[in-house]
Amino acid sequence: MSPLAPLLNRRSTPSRLLVEPAPSSAELTQLIDAAARVPDHGRLQPWRLISISGDARSALGKALVELRQNRGDSLDAAAIDKDLHRFDRAPLVLMVVARLIAGHKIPEQEQLLSAGALAQNLLIGAECLGYGAQWLTGWPAYDRDAARLFGLTDNEHVVAFIYLGSKPSDLPPDRERPSAAQLLGEWRPA
Ligand SMILES: Cc1cc2nc3c(=O)[nH]c(=O)nc-3n(C[C@H](O)[C@H](O)[C@H](O)COP(=O)(O)O)c2cc1C
Repeated sequence: MSPLAPLLNRRSTPSRLLVEPAPSSAELTQLIDAAARVPDHGRLQPWRLISISGDARSALGKALVELRQNRGDSLDAAAIDKDLHRFDRAPLVLMVVARLIAGHKIPEQEQLLSAGALAQNLLIGAECLGYGAQWLTGWPAYDRDAARLFGLTDNEHVVAFIYLGSKPSDLPPDRERPSAAQLLGEWRPA
C-alpha cells in the first residue's frame, strides 16, 4: 500500500450520508492535535475551532432561522427546512474560525491560508482515522449576524464547517481527479 494512501483515497463523504458514531473524544483530541501542526507564518495561531454536536446542532439551526426571520429575510419552506437541519446532517461539525490580525506584517491572506490548511488537515486526519468528512460553507459562513450568533468577534471569520462522522457502506461515485501531468508545468529560463 502506498504511504500516501490516506491522501490518495481521500474524498468527501457528503454530509447527509455521514452516520453515527462521530470520532470519540480521545480521537477528536488526537485529530485536532494533528491538524494543528499547520504551517503558521509568525506563530500567530490565527485559527480556532468550535464544535457543534448533540442537541446544539438543532438549536443552532433553529437560531439561524430565527435570525433570518427577525431581520426580515424572505424564506420559503425549503430554505427554512435547510437551515433547521443544516447542522444535524452529521454527528459532529467542527467550525474552523480564522482570527485575522489586520495590519500585521504577516499578510491576512497568509493567516487565512493557514486556517484553510488546518481545515484540510482535519479532512486528511479524519480519513487516516477511518472517518468520513466534508468541508462545507454556505451563507452562515459569510454572514456577520450569523458570526455573532456563533460567538465570533469582528476579526473572526468562518473558514469551514467540517462535517464529521462514520462513512456509510455505499458512497456515490468519486469525481474525476486531475492528474499530475495535467497540473504540473515547469519554469525554464527564457
Ligand atoms: C472553501 C470550501 C467551501 C466549500 N463549500 C461547499 C458547500 O457549501 N457546499 C458543497 O456542496 N460543497 C462545498 N465545498 C466542496 C466540498 O468540500 C467537496 O470538495 C466536494 O463535496 C467534493 O468532494 P471531494 O472533496 O471528494 O472532491 C467546499 C469546498 C471548499 C474548499
